[in-house]
Amino acid sequence: MQVAGQVALVTGASSGIGRATAVELARRGARVLVHGRDAERTAEVGHAVGGTALLGDLAAPGAADDLAGRALGVHGRIDLLVANAGAGLSAPFTRMDPGEIDRLLAVDLVAPIRLVRALLPGMVERGVGRVVLVASVAGRTGVAGEAVYAAAKAGLDAFAESLRLELTGTGVGATVVLPGLVDTPFFEGRGGTPVRRLPRPVSAEAVARAIAVAIDDDRPEVWVPGWLRVAPMVRGSAPGVFRRLSARFGEPVRITSEHGATP
Ligand SMILES: NC(=O)c1ccc[n+]([C@@H]2O[C@H](COP(=O)([O-])OP(=O)(O)OC[C@H]3O[C@@H](n4cnc5c(N)ncnc54)[C@H](OP(=O)(O)O)[C@@H]3O)[C@@H](O)[C@H]2O)c1
Repeated sequence: MQVAGQVALVTGASSGIGRATAVELARRGARVLVHGRDAERTAEVGHAVGGTALLGDLAAPGAADDLAGRALGVHGRIDLLVANAGAGLSAPFTRMDPGEIDRLLAVDLVAPIRLVRALLPGMVERGVGRVVLVASVAGRTGVAGEAVYAAAKAGLDAFAESLRLELTGTGVGATVVLPGLVDTPFFEGRGGTPVRRLPRPVSAEAVARAIAVAIDDDRPEVWVPGWLRVAPMVRGSAPGVFRRLSARFGEPVRITSEHGATP
C-alpha cells in the first residue's frame, strides 16, 4: 500500500519512534493524525507534520475506543494505523507492583487490540488499509527484568500473525515491527537506557524509515536492525545455545542515566 495519500493515525507520536514515524509518513505524502499523552509535545508534532493532534491516556478504560472515534471524525476514515504507544516496566518480576502490571498490559496489549477492533472494519469494508503494530524483539526472545513487557509484546506479535491470516484476500494487511534497542526517551524514569553488549541502539528515524518501507512494500514483519531476526531462529533451532548466548550478550550490564549512552 503506498503511503502517499493515506490517512494515518500514529499513536505515541509525541516522542521517539512514533514521532519519527509521523514525520516520515507525512514526508511521504500521508495525512497524519498524531496521538500522544503530553499536550505540548503532541501539538508540536501535529504542527510539524501539518496534521491533527489527539490526546489520550491509553491506560484508561475506554480510551482506545474514544481515540478511534475522534480519529475517524477528522477525515471520515483511517487507512493506516500505527499502534506504537507503549511503556516499559523494569524490575525483577517478584517485585513488580500488581497495579503497574495491569497498567502496562492495558497500554501495551489491550489498547492496540481495541484500536484495531475499532478501525479495522472500515479498512476491510473499503478493501484497503494496513495495521502496523510496534512490538519488540523482547516478545520473541524474552528479557530478564522485563517479563511483563516481553509478555505484552509477544501477545501483540501473535495478534498480528493471527490477524494477517484472517485478513487474507481482503486487501488489508498487518505488519509487526520488532525493534531491538532504540535511542529514545523510553527508558527515562526507569534508571536510564539499559546498556547491553548487544544490540547497540539504533535511531528512531531508522525504525521510522523501515516502517514506511514495510507499508509501501506490504511487508509482514520489520526487524530493526535486520540482523536481529537470527535471534528467534537460533532460539527455535538450538534453544540451549540461544539461552547461553542470551545470558552472555542479552542481559543489561549496567544502567546509565544518560539517555542513549553506550559504552
Ligand atoms: N526504545 C526502545 O528501545 C524500544 C525497543 C523495542 C520496542 N519499542 C517500542 O516502541 C514503541 C515506542 O517507544 P519509544 O522508544 O519511541 O518510547 P518513547 O519515546 O518513550 O515514546 C512512547 C510513546 O508512547 C506514549 N505513551 C506511553 N504511555 C502511554 C499511555 N499510557 N497512554 C498513551 N500514550 C502513551 C508516549 O506518550 P507521552 O510521551 O505523550 O506520554 C510516547 O508518545 C513502544 O511501544 C515501545 O515498547 C521501543
